[in-house]
Amino acid sequence: MIIFENISKVYPGNFPALENVNLKIHEGEFVSIVGHSGAGKSTLLKMLYAEEQPTSGDVYFSRKNISEFKARELPYHRRNIGTVFQDCKLLPKKTLTENVAFAMEVSEKKTSEIEEAVPQILDITGLGKKFDAYPNEVSGGEQQKAALARALVNRPKVLVADEPTGNLDPISTWDIVQLLLKINEFGTTVILATHDKPIVDKISKRVVVMDKGRVIRDEAHGRYCI
Ligand SMILES: Nc1ncnc2c1ncn2[C@@H]1O[C@H](COP(=O)(O)OP(=O)(O)OP(=O)(O)O)[C@@H](O)[C@H]1O
Ligand SMILES: [Mg+2]
Repeated sequence: MIIFENISKVYPGNFPALENVNLKIHEGEFVSIVGHSGAGKSTLLKMLYAEEQPTSGDVYFSRKNISEFKARELPYHRRNIGTVFQDCKLLPKKTLTENVAFAMEVSEKKTSEIEEAVPQILDITGLGKKFDAYPNEVSGGEQQKAALARALVNRPKVLVADEPTGNLDPISTWDIVQLLLKINEFGTTVILATHDKPIVDKISKRVVVMDKGRVIRDEAHGRYCI
């Protein structure tokens, strides 16, 4: 479903961030991408939602070469991919519910659809009675659950989670990871970039290890070990 083919990336004036990366991710997989800071994890993920272009090589999504998309096609492509980051970037003046609904509004979904989907997805995330709180009124873990709900409400095929638990304590981290596993069980492909060794070991699914812009290991039931 996703193919990175001979991907290299050199940011202007820098040493290569990615060097000849080849990686295939199948529909429905849960893949953890691990590696030291600067290994190239975020750069690789950015190619998938076309925030960065490879210097050479091609990225395919559902057999389509992303570099061949026209500018006007990119928003449609990006709707296939939900994203969550360490800094969850919720809008501070909107409640959690409004934040999630907003993602559907900008995708021009019908009000009736929004009213149905938003409570459903918030329910899955286990946010309980916090629906109507503002981001600064809830914990980091709860903010991150809302960010996940926002990423998922438009039913993307793939969820990219780049250090989603970076600011969280181990209990909240495990909560978020269980949510990612649940989302994956429902059929969404999940790609998780993380430094969190215990979490990767506990997930016990495919692990891709990157180092200095290269993939150095790829194991079906791997552990975090560099
Ligand atoms: N926008 C940019 N301009 C120039 N260099 C960049 C840019 N983004 C990343 N880099 C460089 O590319 C390399 C890979 O960075 P990247 O952010 O992909 O690593 P990472 O594995 O995600 O690291 P971390 O674990 O710290 O998030 C690093 O050397 C980084 O400094
Ligand atoms: Mg990164």
